[in-house]
Amino acid sequence: MIQPVDRQELQRQRQHMQAVRSLLDAEHLATGRRRAALIETYGCQQNEADSDRMRGMLAEMGFAPAEDRAQADLILFNTCAIREHAELRVFGNIGALKHQKQRNPNLMLGITGCMMQQPHRVEEILSKYGQVDFILGTHTFYLLPGVILGLLQEGRRQALVAERTDAIPEDLPVRRESAHKAWVTVMYGCNNFCAYCVVPHTRGREISRRPEHILGEVRGLVLEGCRDITLLGQNVNSYGRDLGGEPDFADLLADIDKIEGDYRLRFMTSHPKDATQKLFDAMANSVHVARQLHLPVQSGSDRVLAAMNRRYTAAAYAELAARARAAMPDLVLTSDIIVGFPGETEQEFEETLALVRALRFDALFTFAFSRRKNTAAYTMKEQVPKEEKQRRLSRLMEVQQEISLEKNRAHLGQVLSVLAEGPGKGGLLQGRTEGGKLCYFAGPQCLIGQFAPVRITEAKTFVLYGELSGSH
Ligand code: 5AD
Ligand code: SF4
Repeated sequence: MIQPVDRQELQRQRQHMQAVRSLLDAEHLATGRRRAALIETYGCQQNEADSDRMRGMLAEMGFAPAEDRAQADLILFNTCAIREHAELRVFGNIGALKHQKQRNPNLMLGITGCMMQQPHRVEEILSKYGQVDFILGTHTFYLLPGVILGLLQEGRRQALVAERTDAIPEDLPVRRESAHKAWVTVMYGCNNFCAYCVVPHTRGREISRRPEHILGEVRGLVLEGCRDITLLGQNVNSYGRDLGGEPDFADLLADIDKIEGDYRLRFMTSHPKDATQKLFDAMANSVHVARQLHLPVQSGSDRVLAAMNRRYTAAAYAELAARARAAMPDLVLTSDIIVGFPGETEQEFEETLALVRALRFDALFTFAFSRRKNTAAYTMKEQVPKEEKQRRLSRLMEVQQEISLEKNRAHLGQVLSVLAEGPGKGGLLQGRTEGGKLCYFAGPQCLIGQFAPVRITEAKTFVLYGELSGSH
C-alpha cells in the first residue's frame, strides 16, 4: 500500500527550508532587499495544486512573491506535456530568459512538471539550455528546498527526476492564490492509457491519498473559510482501488459532504467507463456537492473511441449522461473532445457533431489531436493533416457555441447562487455559479468570498450577467 513520503526525508527538507531562510534573512538584513520568486503554471489543475505547494515551500524559505518575471530572482516553470503547443510555449519562455539571466547571474531558473517526466525533454534542456539551474519531476518537486540550498551554497546544478513513486508527500506548506478556492488532490496518476494521452507516462500509476488525509485537509480549508473546493484526480472514479476498494469515490464524497460549513464541493475528472449510478446518487443526495459534472467523451464515433482505448461506446456514454441528468435535473454537464485522432474520417467526425447536438453539453473543451511521444497514437498511420484538424475544430466549436448560448439563455430570470471571487471587468464582481459558469454582477466588494443570490439578466456564450436579488 502507498505510504506517505518517509518522515525523515520530509524532515530533511524542512531543515533545508530553515537553512535557506537563514541565508535569505541575512541577505535581506545586509541589502535591504528580499529575493522574490515566481511560479508560472501551465496545464491542468493538478499542476496548479503542485504549484500551491511549491509556493508554500518558497514562502517558508523566505522568498517574497514576485509580481512578474523582471522582478523575480527565482523563476519556476511548472510545465504541461499534454499537447505540443504547451511544450513549445515553455521552450519559448525559457529562451526568452537567457538575456535576463546574463544581466542577473543571481537569477535562479527551474523547470518542473510533466515535461520533465519525459527523458528526451530533460536531455534537451540540460544540453541546450544552460540558463536552467535545476529540474524537478512531478514525483520529486517536494525536494525543492534541498535543490535551492545547493544552488545558493555551491551553485550546484541539479536534475532530480524519478520515473515513478510509491510515496505521497503529505503536510507540505501550501500557499494558495485565492483564499476562497482550493484544489485538493485525492489521487495521483492514471492507469488508463488512452491512446493519445501522455499523462500515464508523466504522472505514473494511480495512487490514492488516504481518506483521513483528504478529510483532514478539507476540514482545515472549511475552517479557514474556503468556499469552493475541487477534488482532483486524473480519474477520480477509480479512487480507492489501491486502498482495497473502500472507501470508493462515492463513499469519499459522502464522507466529505458531512463536514459542516458554507462551502461547495466539486471534482474532476471522471472517466465515463468508471462513473456509476452510486456516484450520481451521492451527488444528488449531498448538501455541498455542486450539480456539475465534467465527463470527457472525446469522440462520438465508436471506431475512434475503440482506437482511443476509451472502453465505452457513444450509446453507452449517452445513456450515462441521461442517468446523471435524471438524478440531477439541473446538472451542468461539460465534456472534452479531440478532433483529428489518427484515421478519423469525415463521417466519424460527423458522428461526433451528432453526439454533441444530441447531448447538448453546457460547455465543451475542444482540442486538435496532438502527437505525443511514447503514446500508442504516436506511431499510428493516417495522421490527419493540420488544416483538416483546424477545420473540424472550428466546425465543432461553432456547433457547441450555439448550444452553450441556448443553455445559458435558459438561466435568464433565474436566481442562482454565485460565489463572488473577486473584482471583474467594468467595476462588476466576478464569480461562479453552482454549475461553474462565469457570472458578472454589480455588488459591494464586501461580498467577495461569499455566496450571493444573483438574478440572471443577460446570457452570452461564455458568460452570464446578473444583478443581486433581494436584500443583502
Ligand atoms: N491531443 C489533443 N488533446 C489531448 N487531450 C489529452 N491528450 C491529448 C492529445 N494528445 C485532451 C483530452 C483530455 C484533455 C485534458 O486534454 O480531451 O480530456
Ligand atoms: Fe489521459 Fe485517459 Fe488517463 Fe485521462 S483517463 S489522464 S485522458 S490516459
